[in-house]
Amino acid sequence: MLRPWKLNLSVRRREGLPVHVQIAQYFIDEISRGRLAPGTPLPGSRVLAEELGINRKTVQLAYEELIAQGWLRSEGRQATFVALELPHRPAMDSALKSDETPALGYALYGERHEAAPRESGGVSFSDGVPDTRLIPFEVLGRAYRRALIAAARANRLAYGDPRGEPALRQELAAMLSAERGLQVGLDNICVVRGSQMGIYLAARLLARSGDHVAVDALSYPPAREAFRAAGAQVHGVEMDAFGMRPEALERLCRQQRIRAIYITPHHQFPTTVLMPAERRMHILALAEQFGFAVVEDDYDHEFHFARRPMFPMASGDRTGRVIYVGSLSKVLAPGLRVGYVVGSREVVDRCANEIQWIDRQGNAVTELAVADLMHSGELRRHIRRALRVYQERRRLFAEYASELKPWADFCLPDGGLALWLRLAPMLDGDQLLSKAHEEGVSISSSRSFAIDGRAVPGLRLGFGNLTPEAMEMGVRGLGRAFARTVNSRR
Ligand SMILES: Cc1ncc(COP(=O)(O)O)c(C=O)c1O
Repeated sequence: MLRPWKLNLSVRRREGLPVHVQIAQYFIDEISRGRLAPGTPLPGSRVLAEELGINRKTVQLAYEELIAQGWLRSEGRQATFVALELPHRPAMDSALKSDETPALGYALYGERHEAAPRESGGVSFSDGVPDTRLIPFEVLGRAYRRALIAAARANRLAYGDPRGEPALRQELAAMLSAERGLQVGLDNICVVRGSQMGIYLAARLLARSGDHVAVDALSYPPAREAFRAAGAQVHGVEMDAFGMRPEALERLCRQQRIRAIYITPHHQFPTTVLMPAERRMHILALAEQFGFAVVEDDYDHEFHFARRPMFPMASGDRTGRVIYVGSLSKVLAPGLRVGYVVGSREVVDRCANEIQWIDRQGNAVTELAVADLMHSGELRRHIRRALRVYQERRRLFAEYASELKPWADFCLPDGGLALWLRLAPMLDGDQLLSKAHEEGVSISSSRSFAIDGRAVPGLRLGFGNLTPEAMEMGVRGLGRAFARTVNSRR
């Protein structure tokens, strides 16, 4: 009898799977996809064995397994058919659950990561990334070499402390004590792969399903998502020109038991403003009164232009309410993935415990190389040089950006690598974005900053990684996009 289906099976003896299992899997796949309908007769074991060039016993073994699982049924000694009633497989149910991925046939939690669109060749405004061309890569390269050789020679490249290399924690503790007024030692520091991981860990420690967490009404989306991923309900707190309003936070605390707040007091993300000292103290007092923790994200502390950076809130925290998160991404490079969490010993030990389930520990060579740069003073020298470059870029960028004044205004940021442009009410931000794109300028939508995704009359424009030419091109393109957006509304 002519076979109505094509046998597309070739067995591989070295595949790691026994041959009879390969045959059984092939038939399960074919039946599941509907290519072998219920009732279809299968070739006899002798015929199939000849076709595949294998022993008949192997085919019999596969058939027996499939019969036992309910995929096939045998009638008499000769004939084997696809069973009329197939085993129940949830993925084959016609109504797939909404979070089930049809191509996989099983559920995946979480959302899909959308790759960032490729740069179109025009000017791309980041939300404030550094210029990694400025890092002292020759010096860093030598530090890496030294770190690798020394660690390998001493047989110290094995599993280590999940809190990070002691040498780096020591340098960080010394720097935080000397420059940021934090009274911390080695045991108060946990090295992480960037401040994002620090925020994620803090969220894991502070929030569970059903807990409430507060953030600025406009805030850093990945931080909010870290708390949501922990199960928390995230509330946006009203802001003014100095960041989160303590009165609004207090109101929320009276309505809801708030477990933690996340803030960026040094350079508010996205508006760049510095939170004044008395407001910081007010928020710390509320933390005491209502018993919440403060996650202070100080992602670009060093880049403060007008005067010395203000001490972090954590320096005024006498009761261990603040979990302080810092990073070397902006002063060195995001690609190195070095950040740190600072807190009580209890907090640090719990972070270390979580780390064991995520990535076990950091990259010892990177950590040792960075510790070397800190110890030798190279990092401080680099920061001083970079600060001068960024200060000049900030000045130049502000000069260009003032050409946008008919449609938008801004305050020169005290620090950070981005400028917050406040848009005139007549401008539609979404339309502006698409017009800017047509002019070869890409900017990310400010809607993502709002906790409810509403339109926000502002744009965060990173200038740190732009050359003067790129700045000029970007601002001019933006100007044309502004003009076209206004005209199209008339
Ligand atoms: C406000 C804020 N927090 C945290 C991060 C994460 O930085 P990283 O994980 O590279 O330290 C960023 C990065 O841009 C940021 O802007």
